[in-house]
Amino acid sequence: MNAATRIAVGKDLLGLADVSADTITTLLNTAESFLEVGTRTVKKVPALRGKTVVNLFFEPSTRTRTSFELAAKRLSADVLNINLGVSSVVKGETLLDTARTIQAMSVDTVVIRHAASGAPKMLADVLPSHVINAGDGAHEHPTQGLLDLFTIRRARGCVAGLKVVIVGDIAHSRVARSNLIGLTKLGAHVHLVAPPTMIPVGIAALASAPGTVTIGNDLDQALADADVVMPLRLQLERQGAPLFPGKREYAHLFGLTPARLAAARAGALAMHPGPINRGVEIDATVADGDQSAILDQVTNGVAVRMAVLFHYSGGGGA
Ligand code: CP
Repeated sequence: MNAATRIAVGKDLLGLADVSADTITTLLNTAESFLEVGTRTVKKVPALRGKTVVNLFFEPSTRTRTSFELAAKRLSADVLNINLGVSSVVKGETLLDTARTIQAMSVDTVVIRHAASGAPKMLADVLPSHVINAGDGAHEHPTQGLLDLFTIRRARGCVAGLKVVIVGDIAHSRVARSNLIGLTKLGAHVHLVAPPTMIPVGIAALASAPGTVTIGNDLDQALADADVVMPLRLQLERQGAPLFPGKREYAHLFGLTPARLAAARAGALAMHPGPINRGVEIDATVADGDQSAILDQVTNGVAVRMAVLFHYSGGGGA
């Protein structure tokens, strides 16, 4: 199948749990063809000409919001960024009323980030427009999962058979959930590492098949045969009562240092969804080093979100 041929997907992208391995692969293949658009002098294709995409971000974002905006613009869609700080949300308007108001202006796709898990689904159930989840609470961040898969596949040539270590605040991480689901669907083995307080009960049930995820508390032990290491941000804003005695102790036991990365497989990839806390979950030398894929993840995020908007927003030919 031509990667730029629109495939039948559901109306909405709410999580990778609802997306088959075949569809994930098609989305990645489409992203591959859109990556080249970002290198052109004129970075535009007419695929979504005449369509309107609305970015509705109820939580802070740098990477996701700007890359959705760029992705939509590179597909020639009209893009509306709602600044919620100066919207009627501050006067008490509900999420649903805000979304219905925007819908009444005939938008085609709503991209939403929200602190509440399930907020995108609530919108998807009532709005005729396509809804794309840009991160909801601790539930899923499907486009981050896709861009991480894409980055790994580009760097390693495949995803199947790799061991990916995800380390950190698993309990609050929608990125960990989407990666766990997507990676195991494509045949990788995922090893989760965290202090016991940051590992939610039942997390292994998200894996696509039994035995494709393991869990531990010892990062040094986990790294020996790792192909990819993905530290997560400590989400102190979501933790309420602290889940760990202090940042210094956390960095000592769970921080990705140059010595730890050297203990992984030769050339292992160091990834991070961002934003990063330098010196806490990742050492600055690793974040800026040769094995770091952090900025590749950002670049790839635009192409992946172009692919998602292309397949989920309908429209004319590519
Ligand atoms: N990875 C990620 O979601 O980053 P932002 O919060 O900057 O969008």
